[in-house]
Amino acid sequence: MTVESSKKRIVSGMRPTGNLHLGNYEGALKNWVRLQDSGEYECFFFIADLHALTSDYADTSRIKQNTLDVVSDWLAAGLDPEKSTIFVQSMIPEHAELHLMLSAVTPLGWLERVPTYKEQRENITEKDIGNYAFLGYPVLQAADIIMYKADYVPVGKDQASHVEITREIVRRFNNFFGEVFPEPRELHTEVPVLPGTDGRKMSKSYGNAIYLIDPPDVVREKARLMITDRTRIRRSDPGHPEDCDVCRMHRFFLDGESADRFDDDCRNARIGCVDRKRALADSIIARYGEIAERSLHLRETPDQVIETIKEGSRRARIEAQKTMAEVRRAMKINWE
Ligand code: TRP
Repeated sequence: MTVESSKKRIVSGMRPTGNLHLGNYEGALKNWVRLQDSGEYECFFFIADLHALTSDYADTSRIKQNTLDVVSDWLAAGLDPEKSTIFVQSMIPEHAELHLMLSAVTPLGWLERVPTYKEQRENITEKDIGNYAFLGYPVLQAADIIMYKADYVPVGKDQASHVEITREIVRRFNNFFGEVFPEPRELHTEVPVLPGTDGRKMSKSYGNAIYLIDPPDVVREKARLMITDRTRIRRSDPGHPEDCDVCRMHRFFLDGESADRFDDDCRNARIGCVDRKRALADSIIARYGEIAERSLHLRETPDQVIETIKEGSRRARIEAQKTMAEVRRAMKINWE
């Protein structure tokens, strides 16, 4: 056995939502980079652009640009095409083929019971998701994962039910056609949640996000507009850092000791809200400034980014084609 093949495999993906915000980085991307750099895993990271079609089919005009923006942020943050296979789902048509085969063995009831599906059907009103593909979202995700026979899937809690249904689909497929696929497992890493500028979870749709590529003046302006302790009217009033969005976000970037010192200075009115906002902006710029510069630089040469994903997809496709040959044989629809 070669060294490569004895390593456990990791597969994970992101939908092409466009520029990544600090919450995307802290919640997922940073962990991917860590897993990649540990050298312990063979990593596959991809843009799930076919998944974007399941809900955004009425306007597909941004998908390609968003894909390039996300990949630029990935590379800027340290995902390395020399170490990981970085690819785009739609460049590998085998994903669509496996999706169809898995859809044959997936009972409708399983899909209708997926919590993310139920929740989104109830909450999403601005676009129609009463289509066939949206119900099949987890089947496509299962195809993504098992195409590469992943051992582990690093995802957030919100995706746990998708990994679970993947395991169920694998069991049912293997029951019919033999032991083709291993059951993947979720790789969950507990990370502190970075709040958005309004104190809620950072999310593009809440409009409370700070983006990795936000230039310093934008970061400062977003910090300036944040709400602090509402009871602190004058600079000389004592502050309540526990009721302050700025203080809470700032804590995220400080070690415990400096965080306590800042909070103490707020409580005793030694510093004002404007000072704390400036300190927050400084922390953000210091932490992400280099990533921002690298990402902006990559965006100036989109042809290079496209080359990178084409090369990664070429490598991933070789694996996908091997799996599909096996699947067709197992299902007795091979003609070679
Ligand atoms: N559903 C995932 C998300 O919204 C994206 C995704 C698609 C994915 N296919 C995947 C994640 C396969 C991990 C593995 O974040």
